Amino acid sequence: MGSEYEKWDKIYRTYPLEELGWELGKPRESLVELVESGKIKKGKVLDTCCGAGTNGIFLAKKGFQVVGIDISSKAVEYAKKKAEQEKVKIKFMIRNFLELPFNDEEFDFVLDMGCFHHVLIRDRSTYIKGVNRILKTGGKYLLICFSYKNGSAWNHFTKEQIVQFFSKHFKILSIKHIESIEGDGVLRYFYNVLMEKKNIKRFLFSKLSKVSD
Ligand SMILES: C[S@@+](CC[C@H](N)C(=O)[O-])C[C@H]1O[C@@H](n2cnc3c(N)ncnc32)[C@H](O)[C@@H]1O
Repeated sequence: MGSEYEKWDKIYRTYPLEELGWELGKPRESLVELVESGKIKKGKVLDTCCGAGTNGIFLAKKGFQVVGIDISSKAVEYAKKKAEQEKVKIKFMIRNFLELPFNDEEFDFVLDMGCFHHVLIRDRSTYIKGVNRILKTGGKYLLICFSYKNGSAWNHFTKEQIVQFFSKHFKILSIKHIESIEGDGVLRYFYNVLMEKKNIKRFLFSKLSKVSD
C-alpha cells in the first residue's frame, strides 16, 4: 500500500468521528437527492473511500447492494459496526483504491464522496482507469470533490480540470458547484459531478466506419 495514504488510519485512531470534517453523521444531500429523484437505478454500488460508512448505509437502506472500501482499518471497523447496528448487509473491506479487487464491469454505480481529491497526482490516471474498469458501460459515477473556491491547492479543482480528467472515459451528465457546512462547522465548496461510463467500443466503431467510408 502507498505509504502516503497510510496516514488516514492514524487520523481515525487519533480523533473521534465528531471531529472529522467530512463526517456529517448523515448522508450527503446530493446523494440523497439523486437517489430520491430516481436518476440512479438500484443495483450494485461501490462506495470508494467509504470512511465510517454513512453514505453506504443510506444506499443499502434504499435497496442497493453495497460494497465499501477504505484504506483505514479503523474506518472500516466503524462502518461494519454501524451497519450491524442499523441491520443492513454491506461488504466493507480494507483496500487501497489503486488496487480495486473487482471484476470488469461489476458495478452499476460508483460513489466517490471525498475520495478523488485525495488521490495523489501521480496516481490519478490509475484511479480513473480503475473506476472505469469496474463500472458497467452506461453505469453512473457520482463524484463530490473540492472546488477551487476553497483556495488554491493541488486538489482544489476548477470545472475545466474536472472535464479534462474525466471526459475521455466518462460522459459528464451534470456538474454543479455546491457549498456545505461540514462536520467541523467550516463552510466548504465542492463540485458535484454525475458521470456515465462511455461505450468506448461503439465510439471506436463509429470512428472506424467514418475512416472506411
Ligand atoms: C474525506 S474522507 C471521506 C470518507 C467518506 N467517503 C465520507 O464521505 O464520509 C476520505 C477517505 O478516504 C480514505 N482513503 C484515503 N486514501 C485511500 C486509499 N489509498 N484507498 C482507500 N481509501 C483511502 C480515508 O481513509 C478516508 O476515509
